[in-house]
Amino acid sequence: MNNKATININDNTHDIDIITGSEKEVALDISKLRSDANLITLDAGFKNTGSCQSAITFLDGEKGILRYRGYSIEELAEKADFLEVAYLLIFGELPTQDQLNKLSDDIKERAIIDEDLRIILNSFPKSAHPMGILSSLTSGLVAFDPSAVDIDDEEDMYDAILNLLAKIPVLVAWVYRRRKGLPLEYGDTSLGYVENLAKMMFQRPNKEYIQNKTVVSALNKLLILHADHEQNCSTSTVRIVGSSHAGLFASISAGISALWGRLHGGANQAVIEMLEAIDSDGGDTKKYMLKAKDKTDPFRLMGFGHRVYKNFDPRAKIIKVAADEVLKDLGINDPILDIAKGLEKEALEDKYFVDRKLYPNVDFYSGIIYKALDIPAEMFTVMFALGRLPGWVAHWREMRIRKEPIGRPRQVYIGQTHRLFSDIKSR
Ligand code: CMC
Repeated sequence: MNNKATININDNTHDIDIITGSEKEVALDISKLRSDANLITLDAGFKNTGSCQSAITFLDGEKGILRYRGYSIEELAEKADFLEVAYLLIFGELPTQDQLNKLSDDIKERAIIDEDLRIILNSFPKSAHPMGILSSLTSGLVAFDPSAVDIDDEEDMYDAILNLLAKIPVLVAWVYRRRKGLPLEYGDTSLGYVENLAKMMFQRPNKEYIQNKTVVSALNKLLILHADHEQNCSTSTVRIVGSSHAGLFASISAGISALWGRLHGGANQAVIEMLEAIDSDGGDTKKYMLKAKDKTDPFRLMGFGHRVYKNFDPRAKIIKVAADEVLKDLGINDPILDIAKGLEKEALEDKYFVDRKLYPNVDFYSGIIYKALDIPAEMFTVMFALGRLPGWVAHWREMRIRKEPIGRPRQVYIGQTHRLFSDIKSR
């Protein structure tokens, strides 16, 4: 293929470089368009804009393909451990056993939270949303590790990254336990990452904690499936905040805030609330399908549609099977699973959804699993954040290593042109 394109504007021709990715994706490099032609491009919502070159995750929304560092999501969800996937995303290769042992030991070493942060946590009202608390505490971590702010050295980066991988699960468990009125506990360094998370979250103060394989396997799968998704809203936020050299913890805190929204990670909470509302309204899925298609009604079928997938979200397929397995294994008969399956069936046959290529996304079935694990709906997005942590970190690290410039988009101004100030009495 030609490696240059040309555009003609007012009889002037400008050359534009063509960039081709390793999966043959093609992009026009317009970075010199302003200096060469005094032109910018306009693309609200960045629907057609590549913000960077990245070697972390490949996704083909038309074919429903998702790969981390070249490995298919289906294979990773089936065969890998979350910590292996975290290593893969952040450092580029699957770890050897020695590398994995070191990662795990280094995390255990750092899985301690300054007691003063516990005081900050306890000062939040019980009604505070867990995502707000997690974002604040993540930002708060900077105060206890100020050296982690503006770092470029590989060793300092490793240290900051490991601190986050170690401390965020403790904070997630604490946010959950506080909501449940349970004492805040540390985990058990003899356990693996996900087993430890399960114990930190679910152990009772008066009872020996017995690991449940189904719970651990479901958590492991969910964390892996959420671990990265290239330049989505929260990851782009992490990259753009990090591009100002604000520091890793502050960048991740911003990512958590971006994930909170209902159109992004907050959709998993919104899905369960929607399914429960349909259930308590008599289970009439057709009524809600009509509402979703009615342009005068703000209601949307939560957990459906995706900016990039115009085919099945491969993660949704895996989670749907896992939801069946978990409910069966735990002996739970939840009517909202049937409502979800009913909605999916109707949507896949409905012209509105077919024409717009709206399929179930990752959030459609994940909440059903979290609910079965006794995780309250407001905690669902926190679980998503924990899964997404390695992805955010990997992107932040890639951005710093590639020495990307500060993110600063342009705009087309549509406001008033120059006018003279008028005195207040004459307005
Ligand atoms: N229910 C009903 N109609 C929908 C839906 C939906 N869930 N999603 C999109 N549409 C319609 C939309 O009204 C528009 O119709 P028209 O062309 O007639 O105006 C068309 O489909 C295209 O939608 P869009 O909003 O322009 O698409 P987008 O790429 O800007 O938005 C989305 C993608 C995910 C925000 C959107 O599909 C949505 O709001 N879905 C529900 C929320 C959700 O499940 N979010 C989780 C996304 S996956 C996980 C994550 O990112 O964290």
